[in-house]
Amino acid sequence: MTTFDGILPHLREVLGSHRQTLEELDWFVVNRDLNGRVRLIVPEATASNPDVRARLEQLYAELARQIAPHHHSGGTGLLYEPDLDISLEHGSRTPIEGFSNGWMVDRLAVDSHWTDIAPEHGDPPRIVFASLKGGVGRSTALAACAWKLAQHGKRVLVLDLDLESPGLSSSLLPEDRQPSYGVTDWLVEDLVDNGGSVLQEMFAASPLSHDGEIYVVPAHGRDPGEYLAKLGRVWMPNVGADGSREPWTARLRRLLAELEKNLRPDVTLIDARAGLSEIASSCIAGLEARLILLFAIDGHQSWSGYRLLFRHWQRAGIAELIRDRLQMVAAMVPEIDPASYLAAFREEAHDLFLDTLYDEIPPNGEGWNFDLADDTAPHHPWPVRWHRGYAALRTLHGKLATVDDDEIRHTFGGLIDPLERSLGWGDGDEIRPPGGNR
Ligand SMILES: Nc1ncnc2c1ncn2[C@@H]1O[C@H](COP(=O)(O)OP(=O)(O)OP(=O)(O)O)[C@@H](O)[C@H]1O
Ligand SMILES: [Mg+2]
Repeated sequence: MTTFDGILPHLREVLGSHRQTLEELDWFVVNRDLNGRVRLIVPEATASNPDVRARLEQLYAELARQIAPHHHSGGTGLLYEPDLDISLEHGSRTPIEGFSNGWMVDRLAVDSHWTDIAPEHGDPPRIVFASLKGGVGRSTALAACAWKLAQHGKRVLVLDLDLESPGLSSSLLPEDRQPSYGVTDWLVEDLVDNGGSVLQEMFAASPLSHDGEIYVVPAHGRDPGEYLAKLGRVWMPNVGADGSREPWTARLRRLLAELEKNLRPDVTLIDARAGLSEIASSCIAGLEARLILLFAIDGHQSWSGYRLLFRHWQRAGIAELIRDRLQMVAAMVPEIDPASYLAAFREEAHDLFLDTLYDEIPPNGEGWNFDLADDTAPHHPWPVRWHRGYAALRTLHGKLATVDDDEIRHTFGGLIDPLERSLGWGDGDEIRPPGGNR
């Protein structure tokens, strides 16, 4: 009996031993369905060629023996389809290593996929604040960045996409400034083509704006209404009258584009959900971010979580689509001996990137790889210090209303300075042009 993790190794072996047959085909698709059962889909035209057909049947029979019970029995494991595009629908697709004509489609019970990586959005740049563990000071750091960027005269759009544990908006908006609606309302209204009726009432300008502006889009409005009933629907795809299907990450991108068109920000800051959740995957992989800040505290839980994610990208062969947009942030750096803490953090992060996302560099060769000490590297942490002034605050808004520049600089400067430089707004050039040993 093979378990789920045994499918890919067996698949590689069987496909490899039938390479010649597979390379004769225009295309082939390996589909892993919702229950984790595998089908082989090939062009309909091959069905009329008895020789090829016999070889494909033999291939599937061999595969079925190896991966049972993750196979389909009764002749339903091998399908003939007229069209490659139809065969690739409804799942996360990745090329099959070693074949230029083969695809793997993974059908998941959730609608967003860590492997659907959207290319970078041009203007305005979008920056995602993400973490795998919660409570690491991610939302507080985002609010501090918005505060500082606005002090420098920038128009900043801030979105709370931590829909299952909202709260960012209260740090930037006092109670009486909260707008009537939030992201959740738009996502639900959009399902009945009514998003436009809440769009103008789902943001508010923060009084902490200084010379620029901070527009805050909360997860829900002043009165959350039937929040849980709405939350249970936000993940829905939009299904058109013609049966076309727009996944919810695409809906979210449409919302971002609408907000950016209306508010014309210089930059959009997005508070993601912690963990490997559906919303986290949409924010990290699907929102066309220029920069993805990965908050972590040095500890086994953080590193093993990031390793899972990075390995997933590595195995799917798509690491290069996202890796140069990632940046580690060392969250809540302790007051005592911060230098040793950061050195240990950097080593762990370097090991992680070396094992997963950095290219192996042959002697004197080229590749996307950074030395341990390279301070432009994605593994080199941007530090946020632990500061008692931010611990166990009742309201961050009250704190930010009275905070001074020195205190923000002391606690968040290690994040804000390189962030501004990466946007081309600091002193000096962009921080990672073009990077490493490339
Ligand atoms: N730099 C800091 N120093 C000390 N305490 C902090 C710092 N930043 C945030 N905190 C405190 O840590 C707690 C968690 O902060 P925050 O809500 O920003 O974290 P988070 O990562 O967004 O959490 P969640 O995953 O729940 O959204 C809060 O009590 C906050 O006041
Ligand atoms: Mg938060």
